[in-house]
Amino acid sequence: MGKGALALLVHGGTENWSPERWKARFDEVCPDRRVLQLPAADFDPAEIHYAAVWKPDPGELAGFPNLRVIFNLGAGVDALMADSSLPKVPLVRVAVSDLTNRMTEYVVLHVLMHHRQELYLRASQRERQWAPKFQWPANAVSVGIMGLGTLGANAADVLKRIGFRVAGWSRSRRQIDGVECFHGRPQLEAFLRRTDILVCLLPLTADTRHILNRDLFAKLNRNGPVGAPVVINAGRGGLQDEADILACLDDGTLGAASLDVFAREPLPPDSPFWTHPKVVLTPHNAADTDADEISKYVARQIERFEAGGALENVVDPARGY
Ligand SMILES: NC(=O)c1ccc[n+]([C@@H]2O[C@H](COP(=O)([O-])OP(=O)(O)OC[C@H]3O[C@@H](n4cnc5c(N)ncnc54)[C@H](OP(=O)(O)O)[C@@H]3O)[C@@H](O)[C@H]2O)c1
Repeated sequence: MGKGALALLVHGGTENWSPERWKARFDEVCPDRRVLQLPAADFDPAEIHYAAVWKPDPGELAGFPNLRVIFNLGAGVDALMADSSLPKVPLVRVAVSDLTNRMTEYVVLHVLMHHRQELYLRASQRERQWAPKFQWPANAVSVGIMGLGTLGANAADVLKRIGFRVAGWSRSRRQIDGVECFHGRPQLEAFLRRTDILVCLLPLTADTRHILNRDLFAKLNRNGPVGAPVVINAGRGGLQDEADILACLDDGTLGAASLDVFAREPLPPDSPFWTHPKVVLTPHNAADTDADEISKYVARQIERFEAGGALENVVDPARGY
C-alpha cells in the first residue's frame, strides 16, 4: 500500500497564503506522497492521513476517517480550537526559527520605535520642527512581555541584549536569564506595575480573550521614561478590547499602540484605528509563515512520526494552545 495522502486546506486569502504556492512546496518535500489541494474532485477521503491547514472552514476536517495528524500552518490555533467537529487527532502547530526571528524583528522594531520617540520625531519632521526631546537610555525602560513561549522568550532575550529591563508573564513558571519572570493571575499586577512598554504575544484562549482592556492598562507604570505606557499586540485581535484601547489612547491612559492584529481582519475601511495619530498598525504580518520552511518542518515531522518518533509542538486541547 502507498503512503497515506496529505490534504492541503489553505484559505488565507493573501499572497502569502496562495494555495498553489503551498501545493508546489509540499509536492517538492513529499515527493513519494499524494498531495491533494482541497477542494479537489477526484479523491477518496479514506486515503487522507495528514492535513496541513490554514483557516479551514468549520467541519472541513471532519470527513477524513483515517486522519492521523493535523498540521496547522501557523503558530496560533485559536480558529481550529473553535471548531467543535475538529477530529480528535494530534494537532501540531508551527514553531520554527524563521517565524520566531520574524516576530522578534517586529517586536524590536516597535519597542525601539516608541522608545526612540519615532511618532513624535516624524510629526516634527512633517512640521519642519527641529525640536529634540530628552532621549532616555534603553536601560531606563521596562519592557513587559505577556507570553513567554516560543515567540515571547526569543523577543525577551534580544530586547535584554539591547539593554532594556525585560520582564515576562506566562501561565506556568518560566526561567530566562536576565529576564524577570512572573506567572499566573496572582502575579499579573506586579508585572504590569513595573511595565512601561507592554508587548502581547499570548495565544487567544478562553482565559486570554479581551485580556488587554482598560483595567489592565490602568495598572501599567505611569511614571516611566516613555511617559504614558505603550501597548504592542502581535498575538491575536481577540486578546484586545478595541473600544477600551481607543478610549485609553484618547484619555491618556495609554500613550501609543502598535497593533498587528484586530478583531475583524481585514480591518474595515471605516475603523478609527486607520487614522488614529497614536496608533501604528500593520496588516497581521508581524511574522509571516514561510512556505519553504514550514513545508519542510511538516515533512520532517511526518517522517519521524511514521518511523515511530514523537510529534513536536502538539497543542494541548485542554489549555487551548
Ligand atoms: N501576528 C502574527 O503574525 C503572529 C504570528 C505567529 C504567532 N502569532 C500569535 O502568537 C501567539 C504565541 O505564539 P507562541 O509560538 O509563542 O506560543 P507558545 O509557545 O504556545 O507560547 C504561549 C505563551 O503564552 C502563555 N500563556 C498562555 N495562556 C496564558 C494565560 N492564560 N496566562 C498567562 N500566560 C499564558 C504561555 O504560558 P506557559 O509558558 O506557561 O505555557 C506561553 O508562555 C500565537 O498563539 C499566535 O496567536 C501571531
